[in-house]
Amino acid sequence: MLGIHFLAHFIIICSQIFGTSTTLLSDYSDRLVRSNFFPLASAAYASTPLRCLKDLHPDAQLVHQYTVHCVHGKIHICSGYLAYSKSEKTIYLVFKGYESANHADAQYKYTQVNWPNAIKIKDKTVNVNPYFYSALKRLMETGMERDVTKVIQKYPRFALWITGHSLGGSLASIAAGVVAHKRYAPSNNVYLVTFGEPKTGDLEFARTIESIYSKRSWRVTHRNDIVPAQASQVLKPSPHDPFVHHNREYWYNNTMTPREMYIVCDRGDSINSVRSLAKHTWADHWNYFNVPHTFATKGCSNKHLREIKLI
Ligand SMILES: *[C@@H]1O[C@H](CO)[C@@H](O)[C@H](O)[C@H]1NC(C)=O
Repeated sequence: MLGIHFLAHFIIICSQIFGTSTTLLSDYSDRLVRSNFFPLASAAYASTPLRCLKDLHPDAQLVHQYTVHCVHGKIHICSGYLAYSKSEKTIYLVFKGYESANHADAQYKYTQVNWPNAIKIKDKTVNVNPYFYSALKRLMETGMERDVTKVIQKYPRFALWITGHSLGGSLASIAAGVVAHKRYAPSNNVYLVTFGEPKTGDLEFARTIESIYSKRSWRVTHRNDIVPAQASQVLKPSPHDPFVHHNREYWYNNTMTPREMYIVCDRGDSINSVRSLAKHTWADHWNYFNVPHTFATKGCSNKHLREIKLI
């Protein structure tokens, strides 16, 4: 029986399955991701994330929840929040995802007729999806950037967790690039964890994020989630590379209940080719760890997480 328990949770390295090259494994923790990062990401869908935050860490403080139109003149809303916990010595920068499949549709259409945005990360010029760029810029300008720098200045030794589900994963990844470029926090203080993230930027963006956050950049994906499986979205003739995924993907080809296994793969392109054989679904996007992506609006106490079998 003991043997079965251990076997149920082992890791297959993608290089062994699909023949791509994998370097060092990161210190990925399924437990940390399902019991902490995912509840935080889910709380971004709540009108106040504070209820879930206080359940996770009673001393948590919400600095602010920021809300903007994702791009100029369009109806869809992008949102994120900044919080911290002194007892955990951690600052949380969390982004909300698509409001609906319609929202994703509107984003694809916008991306297809607008140029990617070139941004600087450290000494590299990289290109990112113009919709995600606009949304993050608007959030940063509405006070998020000012508040992030203030909180980091106040607590320079705290870890910085940057996370989000769906479109929120892309905003988190670009935000992690901004944090590195502007030296807001040392990169070994930062965790970048995303769930069902769409392709966010070009190969140069992917490589830059990978080199800065090599061990603590975890891109979690669920079975046949339609969002990470989408094409690069650049239809307009473009001098830029099409968008690709960044490292490192943790793919759960199952319901993601506790102790189910996951597959680790570099950049996820080989996983994508396997996934493309299956029918991609929205259900696998709106459901991570076998709970709805909005579960945190009902609270995040350990009792609640156990009741819904998240942990
Ligand atoms: C993913 O899971 C499905 C259903 O169990 C299975 O048919 C498929 O072969 C799996 N894919 C991989 C690459 O393991």
